[in-house]
Amino acid sequence: MATSRALDAVAIGTCYVDTNVENFPFSSRGIAAEELIGKRYEVVPGGSAVNFCRLGHELGLRTAFIGMAGNDVNGDTLKNLLEQQGVQSDLIRQPGLQTNIGFNITNPQGEHIMFVAGTANAALDPAVVIPKLKEVLPETEILYLGGCFKLKAFKDAFGEIANLAGRFSAKVAIDHGRIPEGVSEGMLEAVKALVLRSAYYFPSREEFCRLWSVSNISEGMRRLQEQVPQLVVVVKDGANGAYYWTDNSIRHVEVEKVDEVVNATGAGDSFNAGVITALMRGRSLGDAITYGCEVAAAKIKAKELPLLPIAT
Ligand SMILES: Nc1ncnc2c1ncn2[C@@H]1O[C@H](COP(=O)(O)OP(=O)(O)OP(=O)(O)O)[C@@H](O)[C@H]1O
Ligand SMILES: [Mg+2]
Repeated sequence: MATSRALDAVAIGTCYVDTNVENFPFSSRGIAAEELIGKRYEVVPGGSAVNFCRLGHELGLRTAFIGMAGNDVNGDTLKNLLEQQGVQSDLIRQPGLQTNIGFNITNPQGEHIMFVAGTANAALDPAVVIPKLKEVLPETEILYLGGCFKLKAFKDAFGEIANLAGRFSAKVAIDHGRIPEGVSEGMLEAVKALVLRSAYYFPSREEFCRLWSVSNISEGMRRLQEQVPQLVVVVKDGANGAYYWTDNSIRHVEVEKVDEVVNATGAGDSFNAGVITALMRGRSLGDAITYGCEVAAAKIKAKELPLLPIAT
């Protein structure tokens, strides 16, 4: 993949001031009624597209983020956190909105629960984002869309965004994330249509089977390949690694299961950042997915990320 443009990826998506607590003592039955007390926590900029930019930046990708925040104190915090993490960002600040916040807890078994609140993400407006994309896309290799179902105002704009990417020869990468209960048929169709116009698609097993109404990954991949042979589909499957399609058959990349999960937040986004980084460095799809798995494993173990040499 050529990397002659100024940016490797620009990401659009939700953003949060995230508080992550490890070793939080909840059981698989959920949270008990009494007060639960965790210990150390971290406050980081979060959200699928932000995680992608943050991890990608650490791996050596040149990334930028476009998102929405309020004019409130958490908006200031988010701006500072993004800067501290080295994430180049265009944070649109709008009075009257509340910057989204997240509280993510992981128990010693590696299970995690998320709580979120705020109004800014749902108000991210294509009318504001599209002019920004017109400026940045000519100098960008990949347009990354993270957590699409949360971008409610984009339902009727995904088509125009795909057109813009096409006009400037930027490739679209999509990780739509969890499909919310009660999502409208219209939104499901809009996201599906966007996937079909993308170059890279990174769902998890559950998300993939649900969106395409298939009972297994192989069936879904075969169907997508018939429709859009150029689409690279990579399905993430937690401790079972990942799947991709090549030469008319499904391939499985196995991983060593991480039992000591320190922080499960953003495993999927780190995986995506790893795969894109490796593809940008000219690696084969199979090698890129292996690297994505290594990056995700390092992230959930809270270990140093494995870096690829710049020259290959
Ligand atoms: N317990 C584990 N042991 C080893 N690798 C793991 C484990 N959990 C996740 N991974 C790695 O992380 C990748 C992405 O994880 P997962 O399938 O949970 O994605 P996801 O559901 O999109 O995650 P997220 O919740 O971050 O959106 C997997 O493909 C795998 O490589
Ligand atoms: Mg995911």
